[in-house]
Amino acid sequence: MSVDVNTRVLQASAEAAETAAECLAAGGLVAFPTETVYGLGADARNSEAVARLYAAKGRPSFNPLIAHVATLSIARRLAVFDAAAEKLAQTFWPGPLTLVLRKQPGCPVSDLATAGLDSIALRVPSHAFARDLLLAFGEPVVAPSANRSGHVSPTRAEHVLADLCGVVDLVIDGGATEVGVESTIVACLNTPTLLRPGGLARGQIERVLGARLISGVETTTTDDDEAPLAPGMLRSHYAPQTRLRLNATDVGPDEALLAFGMQLAPGAAAARRVFNLSKRGDLIEAAANLFSHLRALDAVGATRIAVMPVPREGLGEAINDRLQRAAAPQ
Ligand code: TXA
Ligand code: MG
Repeated sequence: MSVDVNTRVLQASAEAAETAAECLAAGGLVAFPTETVYGLGADARNSEAVARLYAAKGRPSFNPLIAHVATLSIARRLAVFDAAAEKLAQTFWPGPLTLVLRKQPGCPVSDLATAGLDSIALRVPSHAFARDLLLAFGEPVVAPSANRSGHVSPTRAEHVLADLCGVVDLVIDGGATEVGVESTIVACLNTPTLLRPGGLARGQIERVLGARLISGVETTTTDDDEAPLAPGMLRSHYAPQTRLRLNATDVGPDEALLAFGMQLAPGAAAARRVFNLSKRGDLIEAAANLFSHLRALDAVGATRIAVMPVPREGLGEAINDRLQRAAAPQ
């Protein structure tokens, strides 16, 4: 499913940052060093690029991604910082800390990148190349660790190439990463909550907050080595208000239709509203549209959202997984 591409390798430099920024702007995938681990970057606003990123990682599910930005002031445009978040960002950014915050209305980051959640994970990395790239690109870059799903996070360009050669457009070689483990993730949605231990010690964060962090769980269920700490602290996936009817082979006049492919389900002409994940039956396009279409149909006020069957190969597995979760009783 992931189209074979010619993977270029460049040594980290100011010129390489410009090249990498151009590649991202064109919808490409760029693996680059950060101070923690290598990230696999895509333009956070470009749903198709984000869908290709999930395909390249071979993620069995759409876990929400961290959006990387150059500065705190750019981050403030994407998310709402409460007092605790401000304090942590001012103290530890740039650096190996990721904050999960409420999305700002009009946040340009793709719904697919945040897996349809109302929150967003943000990080300002300190690595010189990562900063050059983010400044050159000027927009948020989503970047999960640049390994195939289930493998450990890469700390050298060779690790990235071993996993992703032929599926990413560009790999930037910046040598070994300094920290070597992923960033620490703290949610500041109400009480500051540690979602993933990482490169910044819990004690340092607690000292700045003047309070203990409660332990939560990151939304990852299947990726890598990151085990949930204490289930149930955060809502872990997007759930629409309107009930979903999966594998629908027809649609009623009181229902909205989430279609897939050229042939619409019988009844579509009379349905409350129809959105098509991909008319040409392309699973990457379907993934890119999944969360935004669900949101739009949820707002229609139909009694149900009928969802046509989506094939299970490639990204179809993750699409079906998310549809099933969205359809589960809340
Ligand atoms: O050090 C790092 O953080 C590296 C470098 C490349 O920046 N990135 C990284 O990304 O480790 P990834 O995708 O492998 O891990 C991101 C974690 C996932 O476990 C995901 O569940 C969690 O962040 N996450 C992202 N958005 C979230 C949200 N809105 N709520 C809760 N957890 C979230
Ligand atoms: Mg990872």
